[in-house]
Amino acid sequence: MTTTAPSFKQEITAVFGKPVAENPTQVMVEAAYRHHRLAWRYLTLEVDPADLGDAVRGARALGFAGFNCTIPHKVAVIPFLDEVAESARLMGAVNCVVRKGRKLVGENTDGKGFLKSLKDILDPRGKSILLFGAGGAARAIGVELALAGVARITVANRGESRGRELAGLLTERTRVKASYEPWKGRFRVPEDIDVVINATSIGLFPDVDAQLPLDTGTLLPRMVVADVIPNPPRTPLVRLAEQKGCRVIDGLGMLVNQGVIGIKYWTGVDPDPSVMRAALEDVFGR
Ligand SMILES: NC(=O)c1ccc[n+]([C@@H]2O[C@H](COP(=O)([O-])OP(=O)(O)OC[C@H]3O[C@@H](n4cnc5c(N)ncnc54)[C@H](OP(=O)(O)O)[C@@H]3O)[C@@H](O)[C@H]2O)c1
Repeated sequence: MTTTAPSFKQEITAVFGKPVAENPTQVMVEAAYRHHRLAWRYLTLEVDPADLGDAVRGARALGFAGFNCTIPHKVAVIPFLDEVAESARLMGAVNCVVRKGRKLVGENTDGKGFLKSLKDILDPRGKSILLFGAGGAARAIGVELALAGVARITVANRGESRGRELAGLLTERTRVKASYEPWKGRFRVPEDIDVVINATSIGLFPDVDAQLPLDTGTLLPRMVVADVIPNPPRTPLVRLAEQKGCRVIDGLGMLVNQGVIGIKYWTGVDPDPSVMRAALEDVFGR
């Protein structure tokens, strides 16, 4: 009879951020590791910006299989990596680092996670998009949608210079037609829009009743309405869009899908999103 020696060694993945204590990704990712019987761990690590280089060297030395980067490290991590994938390079931000042999490769899964949620209900090719926001989430979503072949992206942002910058980046670096629309007062959604996306932080805990300045009469049942806010997932926009008969994507969908893509990059296993979503819903008390 042959026996295999037990192994007490686990593969390590992590998130680097500051502050990071309230980041629930560990719960979601480790639920998937347990479900798929993977001897892997995901650590929530607070890393000061001044220590980021040492933290990445430490991750190399300790053989981490990869790690996520969250605020404030998504841009600053790039010089410490060996390669950066195309969409992450276009966005200028990395939220997921993957060890490939001896190399650390930067990816961005935020926009890819959103795109997966969208593709579950609609083919984005040729569609017209209204994107509220021009921060990190909006950049990630805008670039992935452009690379996925949407026809047009209208960026509406409170701050004009950031909004114009995102529209300019999309126009110059991808094939999409992009433009900036000023956002003063309640925004009227043009009739020919197919997908409306809130990629601002309006509605994020603890400001859970905050409303997107939007003329709700202009939302039509044929439109898809998406919100990136994961906590709480049922934002005022999500509830209103449901009442209007729109198909809706909530922020948990994007969060889960970016986690699914990260786990696939690191482990090679395609994890079950329902297990990951259930773990997050427990955390958010839904
Ligand atoms: N579900 C997911 O997987 C996921 C992933 C990433 C991020 N997110 C969420 O996405 C949200 C944005 O994150 P981010 O990294 O893009 O943040 P960010 O870079 O700080 O950008 C914030 C954006 O929200 C806008 N904004 C904030 N308060 C506003 C207000 N009262 N009225 C109008 N616009 C307002 C900002 O406009 P200005 O430019 O005018 O300041 C900017 O466009 C966060 O709530 C985050 O939780 C979700």
